[in-house]
Amino acid sequence: MSKAYVVPPFKIKMVEPLRKISRKARIQKLKEAGYNPFALRSEDVFIDLLTDSGTGAMSHFQWSAMMQGDESYAGSRSYYHLEKVVKDITGYAYVLPAHQGRGAEQIVIPQLVQRPGMFFISNMHFDTTRAHVELAGARALDVVDDDCFDTEKYCPFKGNFDLVKLENLIKDKQPENIAGIIMTVTNNSAGGQPVSLANMCAVKKMADHYGIKTIIDGARYAENAYFISVREETCKTMTIRQIARQMFDCADIFLMSAKKDGLVNIGGLIAIKDDEQLFKACRTYMVPMEGFPTYGGLAGRDLEAMAIGLQEALDKHYLAHRIDEVRYLGDRLRAAGVPIQHPTGGHAVFVDGGKMCPHIPYHQFPAQAVVNELYIEGGIRAVEIGSMMLGRDPDTRAQLKSHLELIRLTIPRRTYTYTHLDFVADCLIAVYQRRHTLKGYTFVYEPEVLRHFTAVLKPLE
Ligand code: F0G
Repeated sequence: MSKAYVVPPFKIKMVEPLRKISRKARIQKLKEAGYNPFALRSEDVFIDLLTDSGTGAMSHFQWSAMMQGDESYAGSRSYYHLEKVVKDITGYAYVLPAHQGRGAEQIVIPQLVQRPGMFFISNMHFDTTRAHVELAGARALDVVDDDCFDTEKYCPFKGNFDLVKLENLIKDKQPENIAGIIMTVTNNSAGGQPVSLANMCAVKKMADHYGIKTIIDGARYAENAYFISVREETCKTMTIRQIARQMFDCADIFLMSAKKDGLVNIGGLIAIKDDEQLFKACRTYMVPMEGFPTYGGLAGRDLEAMAIGLQEALDKHYLAHRIDEVRYLGDRLRAAGVPIQHPTGGHAVFVDGGKMCPHIPYHQFPAQAVVNELYIEGGIRAVEIGSMMLGRDPDTRAQLKSHLELIRLTIPRRTYTYTHLDFVADCLIAVYQRRHTLKGYTFVYEPEVLRHFTAVLKPLE
């Protein structure tokens, strides 16, 4: 029989108390929050699975490195430490820090858009990436393999590009109109699903053939490399670092929210393989946007923490436990019949709210109903990734229908134990058992853009 779980390769040195308020208080707090868990105070949340971004725990190596941060405005020693680490991992020539992932996006993406009406193609753009593409006057198109929309179907790499769709789109829009191909690894929006090395290589080959730049949106690139190491036959004897290097060989630019696989609470990265002109353009633009190029909106101590965190995140023992936590929660839910994106991905379990509550139509937000009920059940905060987040058609204002209505249970790194995850599973299973009683929601207040962050809702009768 296989082991029940991978024992954490760390012990706990500092703790932060958790408090669970009463069920009656949770009902009241959720009402006051307009049935939108983004508006809850974190002290009213028992287990916070809103995001894995900047919510993880740092190691004692990181904390001690922070004491050695060089806070010089220009030419900080901490920058050169970070630069060396990133060059070693990626093999790229140029490195710029940024305050977080979207900071890196706001610098690089506009440099790639030569004129209005250009396109970026991705397996799946993350929200902020899409926003920066649109702000730069371009359009964002997704060509992920349709397998990722079938939550019950097992596929080892549900983040893969559909290469046929990709090539057809390049031909249809004309290669000279494609500003770049963005490989989101892992594919966050479809469940933290990995992209295979073979798929990345094929994308790179096609991009080179048509003269298009490739970009890795690699917030979770180390988790992606781990999946490659265990699922891709030709890579099973390679180290995580070797796989990561081959992933970076498939791109020209690396953008990273280091709040995920950088194991820091704040930070981001830009790395450029060899395009000196692009590097200089980014460096120039950086000064007014993020700050001087050797600090990029961060303190010297943040650069030190990132330099160490990037290396720790490539440790296979760390990754084996990290990925296993997600697998464990997923298995417990599946065993009770809860429909989830299968197999589980790198950073979260994605529950299929559309399947769970078929009686609630998409425009009444079935996944939001589950998210809210889970808070009432156990003080657990999850997030809706479905029609509520997707929003309206900008022209007709009609509510768009998401491919999937998902509840994301996002697991912060090195933060919760298997016991916490058991509690989460028990609560969600309880909600699942009374799923027929759940009701949909409608808006009381609906902001024009990115409405899910600040909307006020009310339950329907
Ligand atoms: N790219 C991906 C794939 C992401 O998941 C995120 C953030 C970003 C870029 C932007 O990075 O937040 O540092 O500015 N994802 C977080 C999440 C917010 O909850 O999934 P950021």
